[in-house]
Amino acid sequence: MKTLAILSQKGGAGKTTLAINLAVAADKATRGKAALIDLDPQASAASWGDSRQADTPPVVSAQASRLGPCLEAAKEAGAKFVIIDTAPHSESTSLAAARAADLVIIPCRAAILDLRAINTTIDLAKLAGTPAAVVLNAVPPRGSITEEAAAAVAGYETTLAPIRITQRAAFVHSLTLGKSIQEYEPTGKGADEIKQLYKWICKQIIM
Ligand SMILES: Nc1ncnc2c1ncn2[C@@H]1O[C@H](COP(=O)(O)OP(=O)(O)O)[C@@H](O)[C@H]1O
Ligand SMILES: [Mg+2]
Repeated sequence: MKTLAILSQKGGAGKTTLAINLAVAADKATRGKAALIDLDPQASAASWGDSRQADTPPVVSAQASRLGPCLEAAKEAGAKFVIIDTAPHSESTSLAAARAADLVIIPCRAAILDLRAINTTIDLAKLAGTPAAVVLNAVPPRGSITEEAAAAVAGYETTLAPIRITQRAAFVHSLTLGKSIQEYEPTGKGADEIKQLYKWICKQIIM
């Protein structure tokens, strides 16, 4: 079983959006052997799970102190890929998730305050001894901001995922309907970005 933790000490970076969309991508790729664990007390991912019509992937709301047994239960149930969504501003939760993960994904918006804030999250992943990669999220469809942000990330000792996730209304609409972007607009560009990102992640953790 492979485990992916989505971390960012900053709220609104896109943790839940990426966690949900990657969980559905993993669910499709593993034929129903993916699961999503929501460690955020706000439980946005779990509420999304409740609003779904599809039965998979299972979404479990848990406390960080129960992460170990929760992952064990997922493994026993036959899960091949588990994604952990986390809360911002909680170092202990983020650290527990990072320690349990094979890879940490750090979503980051292409904005100066977000870029400055990734340092703490990169440090947390390092402290956990888990490889990490920054994913630029909600980038504008055109303009130089994304390249400037990529250059800024290059200044940190971390990996930058070559796939960027564009700012798209479809990411918002799909979640409102209890869907992922792949289910909402299967042939759209956003669905393709998520598929590519999932593929890239699988390569990093050798699935
Ligand atoms: N790529 C994107 N395109 C459009 N809206 C996005 C995108 N990523 C995130 N959002 C929106 O930004 C807000 C914050 O995202 P969310 O995933 O909840 O962040 P976090 O979990 O890190 O707090 C949500 O309203 C979400 O719909
Ligand atoms: Mg969230």
